[in-house]
Amino acid sequence: MDKPLKGKVALVTGSGRGLGYAIIKRLAELGADVAVHDISQEAPAEFGEAKNLDEVAEKLAALGVKAAAVTGTVAEEAAVKGFTAAAEKALGPLNVLVNCAGGDIAAKGGKPKPNNALGVPMEDVRAIFDRNLFGTVMVCKAVCPGMAERGTGSVINIGSGIAHYGVDDGVAYAVAKAAVVHWTRCLAWELRPHGVRVNAISPGPTMTARFSVTRALDPKMTDESVPLKRYGKPDEIADAVAFLAGDQSRFISAQVLRVDGGMFTFPA
Ligand SMILES: NC(=O)c1ccc[n+]([C@@H]2O[C@H](COP(=O)([O-])OP(=O)(O)OC[C@H]3O[C@@H](n4cnc5c(N)ncnc54)[C@H](O)[C@@H]3O)[C@@H](O)[C@H]2O)c1
Repeated sequence: MDKPLKGKVALVTGSGRGLGYAIIKRLAELGADVAVHDISQEAPAEFGEAKNLDEVAEKLAALGVKAAAVTGTVAEEAAVKGFTAAAEKALGPLNVLVNCAGGDIAAKGGKPKPNNALGVPMEDVRAIFDRNLFGTVMVCKAVCPGMAERGTGSVINIGSGIAHYGVDDGVAYAVAKAAVVHWTRCLAWELRPHGVRVNAISPGPTMTARFSVTRALDPKMTDESVPLKRYGKPDEIADAVAFLAGDQSRFISAQVLRVDGGMFTFPA
């Protein structure tokens, strides 16, 4: 079947650009109706990926599915309740939820300075937990009770390779993503009797527009002649999410899938 997700309704947070956009595009290509979400209409323009969120929704609708654009921060409960309700009002009950909004962003923008364990300012720790962990928690709390009532659903939380080992840079972000992975397991256990699956994907370093412009790229990692020792591509994360969203993974829950070419299982 070339449209295995036909009949599904998916919300992907932070999908106006980057990994979230690659994910929602893949879900739409496979037939799902999609709610594209971002913090604002303008967020997709930040690194030049689209004019605004409505333009992204139009591109998705051109794939032959229903698409709705919803906005709001994942860091505030009232906003989360507002955009999840708006998504369901536009498209019907959600049965796929991807929590992708996030990033290692300080309270006032940019990266925390310093960004290690004892130096990172507390306001940045709080901002990073809000954006990555509490956002994921609040969106799940808004969407999953309905899934449980209907007895079906698949939730995919985006973690990170650095959720799985100790770091000396990006510490608050690594801790928040580790908590996202463990939240995934706890929620999966709670929703197991209700037929709702909850899994996480931990991407390795992946070449989104933001990733490429916010650091000096390592030429060894952009060399594609070594198939697994390189930066990932957004489509490679999207394929893994599509697998966890659809019926091919119907007996898989409470798992974390690292999509990193094997990078984070071995010492550097
Ligand atoms: N690119 C990588 O190398 C990589 C690796 C591991 C994990 N990740 C994770 O993947 C996700 C996407 O990253 P990306 O590389 O595409 O970056 P990105 O900055 O392009 O995408 C993040 C998205 O989340 C949105 N967002 C951020 N804060 C928000 C908030 N408070 N409320 C609502 N939306 C918000 C942004 O506007 C953006 O659309 C993030 O959770 C990131 O931590 C990325």
